Amino acid sequence: MKIAVYSTKSYDKQYLQSCNTNKHSLIFLEEALSLDTVSLAKEMQVISIFVNDDGSELVLKALKEIGIKHIAIRGAGYDQVDLLCAQKLGITVSHVPKYSPYAIAEHVVTLMMALNRKIVRANKKVEGYNFNLDDLIGFDLNEKKVGIIGCGKIGAIVAKIVHGFGCSILVYDTVRNEEVIKQYQAEYCNLDYLLENSDVITLHTPLNEDTRHLIDKTAIDKMKKGVMLINTCRGAVVDTQAVIDGLDNGKIAYFGMDVYEYEKSLFFKDHSKDAHSDTLFARLLNFENVLITGHQAFLTDNALSNIAQTTMDSFDAWSVNKFSATEL
Ligand code: NAI
Repeated sequence: MKIAVYSTKSYDKQYLQSCNTNKHSLIFLEEALSLDTVSLAKEMQVISIFVNDDGSELVLKALKEIGIKHIAIRGAGYDQVDLLCAQKLGITVSHVPKYSPYAIAEHVVTLMMALNRKIVRANKKVEGYNFNLDDLIGFDLNEKKVGIIGCGKIGAIVAKIVHGFGCSILVYDTVRNEEVIKQYQAEYCNLDYLLENSDVITLHTPLNEDTRHLIDKTAIDKMKKGVMLINTCRGAVVDTQAVIDGLDNGKIAYFGMDVYEYEKSLFFKDHSKDAHSDTLFARLLNFENVLITGHQAFLTDNALSNIAQTTMDSFDAWSVNKFSATEL
């Protein structure tokens, strides 16, 4: 089966090829899926996309017109595809629901600890032979309250890790995870209680209409002064301008982000030689207490192997069963 793989990076090619046992002819495209690039998948029935590809109604209709019947997302989140529209058009969609929650959870803790212990600043100082410690004071994570918003696969691993640090855990989720309560003594509470009582807040919900701008000015106003906020789920779960205001007025003392509300035109590409027009992002870069990675929380060898294998399994399953949209 011939398959167009949109938004291909060198690692996608490497990991997908390593588990493709010559069953499929993979056409690796650097281009992202958009209205302009749909035609690259002509005469194929299956495509694969990543987080910032465009799966909106117009694009799906164009895909349908050229005969695309299945979209395999190489990731967990599926907010980039209009699923209802895909179903109406008879286009099936698969994703990789669990490839390594550890990869993301461990990145969360990396951001937490690097912010807390000011690792980036410390390293810059040491590189300049400045061993003065004055501005590097951190805090013990032990006995701090960590608020986890969305405690599914990734949130539960974060709970496990911070429990090991000696933190107490507050959880806000629409579904209770009894295992997290039993194993790590997590306390489920409403959103306001979590916002008001957490020293560190980490976000792990999907992006949908209920969670878009869940962390807005009202939510930030309720947080403890000096809170640490970590966002590795989706950029638009926070209102970025409200977070900047929270950083400006000192309510938020640390902000770690792996995802950005307007990352689509920025992330996953080298823009070092381009003119930079995103003033919101430039503002974030200016804060010493903001640590940014460019959507790399998933980027471990284990996660990439699992993503490639599950994506390949979806290609295989589709080529054998040609499952219909209603079966998903
Ligand atoms: P999951 O589906 O296992 O967990 C999500 C949790 O959020 C569930 O427990 C669900 O009940 C809860 N939830 C949903 N709506 C909610 C709401 N309105 N309020 C409170 N809780 C709500 O998903 P998983 O695997 O833990 O991933 C979470 C998100 O992390 C993904 O949707 C994706 O957007 C993001 N992600 C980011 C990656 C990165 O590289 N930065 C990589 C993988 C996932």
